[in-house]
Amino acid sequence: MNKSRPKLARALLAAAATTVLAGAAQAGEVEVLHYWTSGGEAKAAAALKATLQAKGHTWRDFAVAGGGGDSAMTVLKSRVVSGNAPAAAQIKGPSLQEWAAEGVLASIDDVAKAEKWDSLLPRPISDVMKYKGSYIAAPLNVHRVNWLYANPEVFRKAGAKVPGNWDEFFAAAEALKKAGVIPVAHGGQNWQDFTVFESVALGLGGVDFYRKALVQLDPAALNGATMEKVLTTFRRVKAYTDKNAPGRDWNLATGMVVKGEAGMQIMGDWAKGEFVAAGKQPGKDFVCVAAPGSASAFTFNVDSLAMFKVKGEDKVKAQKDLAAAVMSPQFQETFNLNKGSIPVRMNMDLSKFDDCAKASAKDFAASAQAGTLVPSIAHGMAVPAAVEGAIKDVISQFWNNERMTAKDAMTRLVSAAKAS
Ligand code: GAL
Repeated sequence: MNKSRPKLARALLAAAATTVLAGAAQAGEVEVLHYWTSGGEAKAAAALKATLQAKGHTWRDFAVAGGGGDSAMTVLKSRVVSGNAPAAAQIKGPSLQEWAAEGVLASIDDVAKAEKWDSLLPRPISDVMKYKGSYIAAPLNVHRVNWLYANPEVFRKAGAKVPGNWDEFFAAAEALKKAGVIPVAHGGQNWQDFTVFESVALGLGGVDFYRKALVQLDPAALNGATMEKVLTTFRRVKAYTDKNAPGRDWNLATGMVVKGEAGMQIMGDWAKGEFVAAGKQPGKDFVCVAAPGSASAFTFNVDSLAMFKVKGEDKVKAQKDLAAAVMSPQFQETFNLNKGSIPVRMNMDLSKFDDCAKASAKDFAASAQAGTLVPSIAHGMAVPAAVEGAIKDVISQFWNNERMTAKDAMTRLVSAAKAS
C-alpha cells in the first residue's frame, strides 16, 4: 500500500478543515431593520435573507410593521441613540445624508468600487447612495409611485372606463359609486394621503409645478392658483373612499381591489407585488396605468440598505457581502419580481418581468431622457425628513377636516416647508 496515502489523507483533511474554519471565521451575522411585512414585501425580504444565507452568513430579522416606514424610522432612531444600532437598515433618499453626517454609517465604497457600481447605476441614483463621494448605501430597486391600479371586471360591470386624466377619474368614480362599489380603495395614513396628493399635483400641475412646489418648496408655488386647484381636486377624491378608510393599511386597500370590493387604488407599485402575491395576472385580473394625467412622468422611490458601523471582522465581512449581493443580477431579478419594483441595476434582462414592470422600465428610461423623472416626497426621496413630516401632516389635516379651506392649507404648507 502506498505509504504516502495516510499523509495525503491527512493533508486533504487539514486543507478541508482550514477551508471550513476560514469560512466559519468569516461567517457573520447581519441584523436588518426593515418594514417589508406585507405579502409581496415579505417575499421580497425573504429573497434578501436567502441571498445573505447563501454567502454563509446569518440574517437576523428586525421587521417593524407599518407601511411607508414612519414607525420603522422611529424605532431605528431610538436604537441608534441607545447605542444599539442594527448592522443594516432600510434607509433611503436625503435621510441617508442625515444619517451619514451623524458618523454612524459604515462605508461600503470598497465594495462599490470593486463591483463598479458607478457604471451600473443611473447617476441621479448613485449620487443619493454616496456621502462625500463614498458609497454608504446599496440600492435595491426603483419603485414607481404614480400608478393607478384598477379591477377591470368591476369597471366592466359598472360601465366605467379606466381613467387617463382627472376628469375621467371622477366620471369613473361616479359610475363605480352608482354600481354600488367603493370607487377608491384608500388607507387613511399620512403617507398614503400624500401618495395620492403628490399624484394629483403631478397629473394636474405638471412636472415643473411639482418640482417648484414640492421639491424646491417655493412659497409662491405652494401658495398659488395651481396649488389651490390641486388641493380642491385632491379633496374631491375623498368622497369616493369608504368610511373605514381611516387607519387602513395600504395592502388591505390593495386587497379590496384584488377582491373586487373597490374599483381602483392610487399607489406605488409595491401594490403590484400584492396582486402578484395573490396570484393575479396583470392585464387580466388587474390593470396598471399611470396616475391620471401623469403618463409622461415617473415619480421614483428607491429603496436602499445602509450599513451601520459594527464591531467584529466577521460582521463587517457579512455587511459587505450583503451589499455586494444586493446589486447582483440574480438578486435584482428575484427581489424585484416579488417587490413589484424594477431593478435599479441598468441593462438587466427583464424577460421574466410582467407588462407592468416592462412599462415601468420603459417609462423610467423615457422620463430620464425627457427630464420628467421626479422624486417622491411621500416616500422620502425629495426633502429633509422634518419638512416631509410637516407637509404630510398639513395635507392629512386638509383631507380629514372638511372645514379647512384650500387657502388655509396653502398657508400652512408655506410654514411647514420651513420646518427643520
Ligand atoms: C415605501 C417603501 C416601499 C414599500 C412602501 C409600503 O416607502 O419604499 O418599499 O415598503 O413604502 O410600505
